[in-house]
Amino acid sequence: MSVAEMRTAPTNGIETAFIDCGSGPPLLLLHGFARDHTVWDAQIETLPRSYRLIVPDTRGMGETKHPDPGSAITIEQLADDSAALLEALDIPFAAVAGFSMGGYALFHLIMNHPNKVRAAAFVSTRASADDPSKASERIRQMNHVRDEGAEAFAATLVPHIFAAHFIDSHPEVVEATRRVIAAQVPNNIALRADAMRQRVDMTPRLSEITCPCAVIGGSEDRIVPPHAMKELHEGLPNSTFDMLEGVGHMSPLEAPEGVSFCLDQLMQHAGMWM
Ligand code: MLT
Repeated sequence: MSVAEMRTAPTNGIETAFIDCGSGPPLLLLHGFARDHTVWDAQIETLPRSYRLIVPDTRGMGETKHPDPGSAITIEQLADDSAALLEALDIPFAAVAGFSMGGYALFHLIMNHPNKVRAAAFVSTRASADDPSKASERIRQMNHVRDEGAEAFAATLVPHIFAAHFIDSHPEVVEATRRVIAAQVPNNIALRADAMRQRVDMTPRLSEITCPCAVIGGSEDRIVPPHAMKELHEGLPNSTFDMLEGVGHMSPLEAPEGVSFCLDQLMQHAGMWM
């Protein structure tokens, strides 16, 4: 549960709920697939000492609704929503960290709104698109969540997203994440899975991303394995690479200090500190 209060702003045809806390150079944090801003809870606690943090619930998740259940959610739309949020707050540019699906949106934010992103952190994410077996798994996930609901979906997802030893050592963190997933709207989870299934391969375009970047991941990630993050780092002209030992997919929760340290390093490298 985040300590900071949420506000809302009109963005790209929806009302986006977000946290806006701290002061200093702006840092926008984008969460992943079937979750909300709380994946960044540890960063929300510590980083506002140095930065202005903007942490939305992105379209369809948490307190931000997707207005039309019959229409798709796309990765490009998530990028446009993020650009619109910065505009609504009169923030001309920011450093942006995208966790997992938030990273998929970050590629499009950089491509479609290049002046808005001064530095980029790709956290537990990849540039490549789904291969055919992953795309079929998404369809199964979509059917499962629509048929069985978010509670059942959370129960099947959670064991895969944390490192096995973390599940044993931090059951309260795992349970909090399970509750966040179980509280989401099933159709919105399905629409976001479909958005990931249809996303394009960004690998051929990585050389266009010239701002300072950081690629941050976990050595035990079973969703985005280390080799996918290494490929991303190698394709980016100006990036650092930090592989956090023993950490699974949920790096901001499993290694809060490590992730915050890497974000801090990126901000300094980009000259975004006071
Ligand atoms: C996420 O955490 O955002 C997703 O699991 C990423 C994915 O499945 O590709």
